[in-house]
Amino acid sequence: MNTFAFLFHPFDLPILFKKGIKEESIGRMNQRFVERTLRWLEPIKRESAKIKSITGSEALCEMIMVPLICDQILYMDPKFVLDKTIKAAELAVKMKVSLIGLGAYLSPVGRRGVLISKAVNTPVTSGTTYTISTAIEATIKATESIGLKIQNTKITIIGATGSIGKACASFLARKVNTLVLSARNIERLEKLKSELEQMHGVSAKIECNVNPKESVKNSDIVVISTSCPSEILSVFDLPAGCIVCDISVPHNITASDAEQTDVLVIDGGLVQVPSPVDFEYLALPPGVAYACLSEAMILALEGRFESFSCGGEISYEKIMEINALAAKHGFKLANFRSFGKIVDDATIERIKKARKNRK
Ligand SMILES: NC(=O)c1ccc[n+]([C@@H]2O[C@H](COP(=O)([O-])OP(=O)(O)OC[C@H]3O[C@@H](n4cnc5c(N)ncnc54)[C@H](OP(=O)(O)O)[C@@H]3O)[C@@H](O)[C@H]2O)c1
Repeated sequence: MNTFAFLFHPFDLPILFKKGIKEESIGRMNQRFVERTLRWLEPIKRESAKIKSITGSEALCEMIMVPLICDQILYMDPKFVLDKTIKAAELAVKMKVSLIGLGAYLSPVGRRGVLISKAVNTPVTSGTTYTISTAIEATIKATESIGLKIQNTKITIIGATGSIGKACASFLARKVNTLVLSARNIERLEKLKSELEQMHGVSAKIECNVNPKESVKNSDIVVISTSCPSEILSVFDLPAGCIVCDISVPHNITASDAEQTDVLVIDGGLVQVPSPVDFEYLALPPGVAYACLSEAMILALEGRFESFSCGGEISYEKIMEINALAAKHGFKLANFRSFGKIVDDATIERIKKARKNRK
């Protein structure tokens, strides 16, 4: 059977210790001590799962955990993080996998997989292409769900200069009325703005804003895809009737009081898989997986053992290609969920009503 490995990392300490230590006791431990200890832990093999396509083909997924949390991947010596990820890839190779997928904050490691693939002489895919595809699809679906035409919308992308944000910006710049690009670095935002304005078929008014709260003013839809592991916006920062597609893993908008507000925050980048997989460490509903993991599944089911999303920017043709393969094997955008709960018709009606009352 086609076998692939998926390298993932815990987002925070409670997830890491899910099996061994109770959550309350982590609170009592010295967090810095635990983080320092993690540095010396070796990558660990976790669950295995069989994936079945609607075509009948099957693949085996081996989950390997790189024991580093988000902050460590972001702020530790990049060489240390790369070496640890390569160790995880070596473990995968020992298990005779034909492809290695990277998840969440591991996607950008080693020049988006290039150095990892080279080190273990095995194809590596960062999962970015299918994540971009699902982010765009979710944005369009969210727009339509509240009865808006995409050409009349103002859409803000937070994390616009990142690999996922930039691809979404390139696509949406040809579709929307106003596109607001947001991130922390103004030079990179301005550069992206002028690149987009020179692209063929771009008609949107493009603005840059380094302040996330200001950037979402009067927006219809907000796409968030950043490498910030904590809250960037509160639901109270958003205009009435706004829909947010939060692709970031971990998310950048927290759940507090979300149900009482007149905005909708969708958990982005989630895919309905054609078989009932249930990965304990990813804490997702059965049958649902992150798009980056789904990309590795699709490639393994197709027998495409190649570094599909690896290194530089992702082309439109690649996005179309992974879309076609996803459909062939029965993968599709998961039903909209907000903080883990399915979004029902009543919620959509609430958002539409809030939009009507918007000044
Ligand atoms: N759902 C999935 O399957 C899936 C798959 C892969 C990745 N992801 C998630 O998608 C997110 C983005 O991934 P990526 O590979 O595109 O990352 P990336 O290429 O590193 O880009 C990160 C972007 O976030 C911006 N940023 C960082 N901190 C910020 C802050 N505090 N406020 C505003 N902007 C900030 C960065 O620009 P500045 O530095 O200028 O601020 C940059 O534009 C991550 O959370 C990742 O885990 C999800």
